Amino acid sequence: MWRKYAILAVSALVLASAPLEVAGQGGCASVIARRDIKSLSGAERNEFFEGVRRLQEEPRPNRYDRFAYIHLQATFEAHHNAKFLPWHRQLTYQFELALIDATRNPNFRVPYWDWSKDSQAPAQSIIFSDSWFGGNGRPGDSCITTGRFASWKPMYREGSEPECLSRQFNSGDSISPFSTTDDIARLLEISSFVDFSKEFEDVAHAQVHNNIGAGFMKMASPNDPLFWVHHSFVDKVWAHWQSRGDRMLAYNGANSDGSPARPEDPLHMLGGTVGSVMDFRRLCYTYDDLGSARMSRRSTGDGGLGGLLGLGNGGGGKHGDGAQAAAKGIKSRVVTLAEDELLPSADDHAELFQLRDIKPLSEEYIRKCGGNVTRTREYEAKTREFHRQINKMPDYISPSALINRKDLLQRLTAERSTFTATRGRKRCVLETPGGAASPSVLDSLIKTATLSLSLSVDLLLGGGSRQGGLTSLVPLVGQKGADYIKAAYAS
Ligand SMILES: *[C@@H]1O[C@H](CO)[C@@H](O)[C@H](O)[C@H]1NC(C)=O
Repeated sequence: MWRKYAILAVSALVLASAPLEVAGQGGCASVIARRDIKSLSGAERNEFFEGVRRLQEEPRPNRYDRFAYIHLQATFEAHHNAKFLPWHRQLTYQFELALIDATRNPNFRVPYWDWSKDSQAPAQSIIFSDSWFGGNGRPGDSCITTGRFASWKPMYREGSEPECLSRQFNSGDSISPFSTTDDIARLLEISSFVDFSKEFEDVAHAQVHNNIGAGFMKMASPNDPLFWVHHSFVDKVWAHWQSRGDRMLAYNGANSDGSPARPEDPLHMLGGTVGSVMDFRRLCYTYDDLGSARMSRRSTGDGGLGGLLGLGNGGGGKHGDGAQAAAKGIKSRVVTLAEDELLPSADDHAELFQLRDIKPLSEEYIRKCGGNVTRTREYEAKTREFHRQINKMPDYISPSALINRKDLLQRLTAERSTFTATRGRKRCVLETPGGAASPSVLDSLIKTATLSLSLSVDLLLGGGSRQGGLTSLVPLVGQKGADYIKAAYAS
């Protein structure tokens, strides 16, 4: 089957070997922030989608096709070795340059999708809505039929893939969890580049490809425009890691042939070297919540439970008043769990507070790009144990928890009538009558859960003084979360 790509691709070789802008050369007129796609205006998002469409409408094989072709051909050079992050940085940067050209907007930057925030109920994300990227593939061939790119016919495909964009959510109509904001915060604590890169690639990055499935877990996945907002976020996490302490040029590990990784190593089929992309600011971009590009947007911590319940201004602790409002239309009972029930299953989309277990990656996906199954299983076990630790913390709730994601919860309440909220060994089971999606029922649901479990709201996210060394964690999980994560990671 590999041969087929080569035959299909003869004319693309011309494109692929055309001179590329040398990364990092010359000064930038301005270093512009890549932004969270959810924070873009409708017009800005449309500019991205239209730019992609223009690239896709060029004569075949066109500039859009070229990216899938390169990714497919560079599979073993670009994955499961030290070059994974720099190679994908260069690929995404070159895509950005193509879009700057297609949109005729020199200030265009590829937005990112922070999937860690959608991690607990990914299929509910607005990302998969009809006016964005579209949702799950249809039964049979897994071709998507919704979204802005449903009619796109990719030219380069892996093996016997159908001539369409395909996705096959790994839990049927839903997607099992991705790595959480806490997992990302923990990754940022890893001091060695190679250890950070391996674990990030093997779990957090891989879960997104694998769980969305079908074409998105194949090596021609840049065909799906979702690839770019995913990899822009992967790059953002690396940029955050680099921006801590003295890590901007940190690079070590091994190349695909086993030789020691060095900054002068070339980036296969893309041009440039590892060293030419290490400092992303020389590629004229940064991220909206990094350093001087900081923009006026609310921090993750503001979305915490305190804000949601309106308890930030001295309203905490007045449980008596809330209890009455909470009781309306909701039945609750509290049960005690066994130790091994503390981690909700990957397919549990009803738990309000607890982080879910992740599903093991499929062996097919791991082997396809040269991964190590044993090592992946070790990382998965580590993630599972970390989630157990987080879930056991009596007064910490992850920013990824559904209780902090009213938007996702709203969609879920339209689908189901039973929710659970677990703290320690106590689980509160909440039953709502049908059609529970109204905001007042949702609020009641959250308050009932909170009151039943006697949560201490003032210990939640967003508060506390900042201390040196914890600053990278704080924007992600709040001071309290940062302290817990450090303690959990050290143990
Ligand atoms: C795969 O990972 C395991 C566990 O980390 C390691 O012991 C083993 O050497 C690896 N295998 C290869 C072929 O790299």
